[in-house]
Amino acid sequence: MSQPLIADYPLRAHNTFGFDVRARFAMTLESEAQVAALAGDARIAKLPQLVLGGGSNVVLTRDFDGVALLVGMLGKRLIAQDDDACFVEAGAGENWHDFVAWTLAAGMPGLENLALIPGTVGAAPIQNIGAYGLEMGERFERLRAIELATGEAHEFDREACAFGYRDSFFKRAGRGRFLITSVVFRLPKAWMPRADYADVARALENSGKHDAQAIFDAVIAVRRAKLPDWKVLGNAGSFFKNPVVSAEAFDALRAREPEVASYRQPDGSAKLAAGWLIDRCGWKGRAIGGAAVHDRQALVLVNRGGATGAQVLELADAIRRDVFERFGVELEAEPVCL
Ligand code: EPU
Repeated sequence: MSQPLIADYPLRAHNTFGFDVRARFAMTLESEAQVAALAGDARIAKLPQLVLGGGSNVVLTRDFDGVALLVGMLGKRLIAQDDDACFVEAGAGENWHDFVAWTLAAGMPGLENLALIPGTVGAAPIQNIGAYGLEMGERFERLRAIELATGEAHEFDREACAFGYRDSFFKRAGRGRFLITSVVFRLPKAWMPRADYADVARALENSGKHDAQAIFDAVIAVRRAKLPDWKVLGNAGSFFKNPVVSAEAFDALRAREPEVASYRQPDGSAKLAAGWLIDRCGWKGRAIGGAAVHDRQALVLVNRGGATGAQVLELADAIRRDVFERFGVELEAEPVCL
């Protein structure tokens, strides 16, 4: 039985910017078999396809003239353990934060620094989500994905995923070709706190506790203080990646701007805080139509109401030009723009 195809489907609830766009068709997929069947489905054979998880990392600039594939594979379970680690598997459609909370409640810490990141489990490997000193790739074991053109199932280990900073195979050569159906994480039994990030360390000090639950709570508190809740103010998290510049470029920049917020990389290059660069150019709080730069974190663009994807892109372009003119640094968008 193939899944029902819904015509003229509103995507507003499927993108965290809250853009009022529609898909020509949509289909909800709840099992790997349903995904595999897409390749032989004559109804959609010639249509462009768009895989949508939580819609927290896309900018939908216009109606989508194809079929939106809504990822609905659920389930989370401990599948194995050895002396060193627990292995947990989750369906791609599971809500990321709920999954993190579930692992902690089940006594398997390791993902607590990634609390409250919007989106789904299946989307997490695509951009290798990261925050407060941890990237998902460090806890990743393997994933299953269906190749849309053939319906074939594939397994990808960490190496095949080629994780980088907000980057993976699925944003490069694999872009648009696969639908991730489930992900397995490896949670080490020898738990080590990651609490170097200053705001998190401060929140922990105040709480007087240092266990995984305390880190989870601290990360939630820091995120709530800094980042807008997309349910209140539409956004896609950081709109730009933090750019990495060579050691020489960094020294030259720091000579001009001694306060530039940055993180030195092991090879001597430096990751610059794009939020700082944008803030320094005076963009915080400025708007084009309903699209605005968040007034507490310049790296986040928000929909104040009625914004279009095109306005967000216009705003992003203006910011990019300004930052380049002032600092000679190119900003790269973090979400996928369609
Ligand atoms: N800053 C400013 N003005 C601003 C924003 C930031 O001066 O408007 C300065 C801050 O004071 C700080 C520095 O820039 O010194 C860095 O800011 P912050 O610690 O808030 O982190 P970030 O670089 O803006 C990154 C990730 C976030 C992640 C945090 C914490 C990227 C693109 N963003 O933000 O990830 O939560 O670090 O680890 O790497 C996301 O990817 O969507 C995301 C929210």
